[in-house]
Amino acid sequence: MTEAKKEIVLSGIRSTGNLHLGNYFGALRKFVAIQDDYDCNFFVADLHALTTNPDPRELHANVKNIVAEYLAAGIDPDKATIFVQSDVPEVAEMYLLLNMHVGIGELMRTVSFKDKARKALGLGSNEAENDDDFAKEIVGRDTGKRVNAGLLTYPTLMAVDILIQKATKVPVGKDQLQHLELTRRFARRFNAFYGVDLLPEPYDFDFGGQPIKVPGLDGSGKMGKSEGNCIYLIDEPKALRKKVMRAVTDEGPQEPNSPMSEPVANLFTLLELTSTPDVVAHFREAYADCSIRYGDLKKQLAEDILNITTPIRERINDIMADEDYLRRVLARGAERARERASKTLAEVREVMGIRKF
Ligand code: TYM
Repeated sequence: MTEAKKEIVLSGIRSTGNLHLGNYFGALRKFVAIQDDYDCNFFVADLHALTTNPDPRELHANVKNIVAEYLAAGIDPDKATIFVQSDVPEVAEMYLLLNMHVGIGELMRTVSFKDKARKALGLGSNEAENDDDFAKEIVGRDTGKRVNAGLLTYPTLMAVDILIQKATKVPVGKDQLQHLELTRRFARRFNAFYGVDLLPEPYDFDFGGQPIKVPGLDGSGKMGKSEGNCIYLIDEPKALRKKVMRAVTDEGPQEPNSPMSEPVANLFTLLELTSTPDVVAHFREAYADCSIRYGDLKKQLAEDILNITTPIRERINDIMADEDYLRRVLARGAERARERASKTLAEVREVMGIRKF
């Protein structure tokens, strides 16, 4: 009897630096948990990293870091396909083809594009608030500042990563859900335009309940490389403890059962991700009856984070030293990823009328 075909899972992480707890809980931890049961494909999105014009040497080094971090966190290359995005040139070609069915307007309204473009243009939060003003700023002020066309078409490239492998499940953090929604829209549009049923619509894969947003330690927003508020998997214990002890809090609850400020709620979110339920309950009660000492909570949090990161950190160092192994893993991964990608690309070319005479 042949084994039932496993559903195709795909996800990637940009090679913009080392992995932090946001990447770990939003993505990596899920990758490891599902690799036995699905046809898993995990890649390093080095082409996506180019959208922010990184230093070439750093970009290259970061690809290696992330592959090592994937392996150290427990992704098994015998179970999952691990590859680098730029090792699959079919992706770049299909990106060009799919862009013919993507609107500039819908790309400009993407939240991640707006955030990055606003930052690059130095726009304050109350400037160019509506779409028209934003569009005018982009057209009028783009004088060599870094709002490049690759940044705009970022969602097309991400859609192609997914669609070219015909993946239907995509484990990601909350910040990527809009990109997934666009991917579904592009697939539907493509299929409808050509009257085919070629590109399946992918969905988020959050088997553990709610989509995750891991907060930073600076009191507000998500943990992110560009926010400078990260705890990295490779942080040494001393540095990690220091970061946690410095996390923003408030003056403490003034009366029983008072609502939590954002910085404190964020610490509890991190505690929930890393500690046991009884530890969380203990600190929640202490908060409710005003006996909480944030220093104690932070000490506990730092140790619980270290319990997760220490074994990973130790493996990262070993794996990084074994270049041959890394090369073998990536060569095998590229071969497998290209097999499916070239098949889909051939189908897409055919459907669009790009074929040999
Ligand atoms: P990237 O590199 O920004 O992040 C990689 C993964 O980590 C998750 N993540 C978080 N989750 C929760 N809380 C946080 N603070 C946090 N920070 C990051 C992200 O949601 C993501 O799952 N566009 C993608 C890379 C990509 C991709 C793809 C993903 C390219 N092509 C195809 C899936 C499928 C990105 O920039 O992720």
